Amino acid sequence: MKRYELRGMNGVESLQVADAPMPTPGPGEALVRVHAVSLNYRDLLVVSGMYPGSPPLPLVPTSDGAGEVAAVGPGVDRVKVGDRVAGTFFESWVSGRLTERDMATARGGATQGMLAEYVVSHADALVRVPDHLSFGDAATLPCAAVTAWHALFEVAPLRPGETVLVLGTGGVSIFALQLAAMAGAQAIVTSSSDEKLERARGLGAATTINYKKTPDWEIAVREATGGAGVDRVIEVGGPGTFQKSLASLRVGGRLSLIGILTGFAGGVEVVPILLGSLHVDGIYVGSREMFESMNRAIARTKLSPVIDRAFAFADAPAAYEYLRSGAHFGKVVIRID
Ligand SMILES: NC(=O)c1ccc[n+]([C@@H]2O[C@H](COP(=O)([O-])OP(=O)(O)OC[C@H]3O[C@@H](n4cnc5c(N)ncnc54)[C@H](OP(=O)(O)O)[C@@H]3O)[C@@H](O)[C@H]2O)c1
Repeated sequence: MKRYELRGMNGVESLQVADAPMPTPGPGEALVRVHAVSLNYRDLLVVSGMYPGSPPLPLVPTSDGAGEVAAVGPGVDRVKVGDRVAGTFFESWVSGRLTERDMATARGGATQGMLAEYVVSHADALVRVPDHLSFGDAATLPCAAVTAWHALFEVAPLRPGETVLVLGTGGVSIFALQLAAMAGAQAIVTSSSDEKLERARGLGAATTINYKKTPDWEIAVREATGGAGVDRVIEVGGPGTFQKSLASLRVGGRLSLIGILTGFAGGVEVVPILLGSLHVDGIYVGSREMFESMNRAIARTKLSPVIDRAFAFADAPAAYEYLRSGAHFGKVVIRID
């Protein structure tokens, strides 16, 4: 069977197709025939050697994959042959709080990932996916969707009528927009592209702001909320957007710190947090239990993930380059059919 391997971390050119023996599931494990994977910004960090930690080399990259159970090992009754499943981002985080041990089981970074025709996974680290989703759709869920779900519903549940500020139109942000709309909340979306903002309005965004044309977008956000500020921010920008995101919040509002698109470090003016009684939560993907809760909501509402473009397995490096270009809206998928 074929899989991609990273033998070094010098960028997308480090991605190499390799032949590997068919893996065999051991006790408690399942063999999954992977039909699709999706890419996350993190996968760009991993191939460039910029993701924290020391991945085992050679590394099969990407955290997110979906497929069909092809065989199960001894003692497995959680899944059966033929089940349509996706892998959880952290193989060991089933429920409760994230632990350091769980962090050491992040697929496609700390442990082997999904960009392969077949993978063996612990059966506890698989979830059944909603029937209405294709394998490509399902492959978009494990990182971006679970992260948005965790931020909006697991820490302090978003309530109908609340307002959520969503930064940019990448994978996490478009799921946050869709989930906010599903919950009856209003979304304000920023983007560098007017064309993408128009698409965001089509998905239910009530207000859209071009952050290139309106560098003081936090003022526009406050104006759009009658001066009050938003209830929540899905903060994917990091140091370059953090202060403006704080300034966009209402008194007592909540910022979910998710991303580092503008870099890893920067200064923080702390006074707005204490004067505004703001809540700042670090969010790191989510547990299997969160993934399963989200899948129930997705199945009930027939939410359909937004896939910008799907690439063939042989074109995986081109898929990475496309993600890096930032031209996408929503998710980028690689099919392994
Ligand atoms: N903490 C976690 O568990 C977790 C989970 C998933 C992702 N993340 C992080 O969250 C971030 C987003 O990940 P992703 O996979 O969704 O990325 P992605 O799909 O690659 O999103 C890229 C998009 O972000 C937008 N963007 C870039 N710079 C921006 C800025 N300064 N202000 C506003 N928007 C900006 C752009 O949207 P426009 O083209 O519309 O301008 C760009 O197209 C990354 O830093 C990733 O590492 C963290």
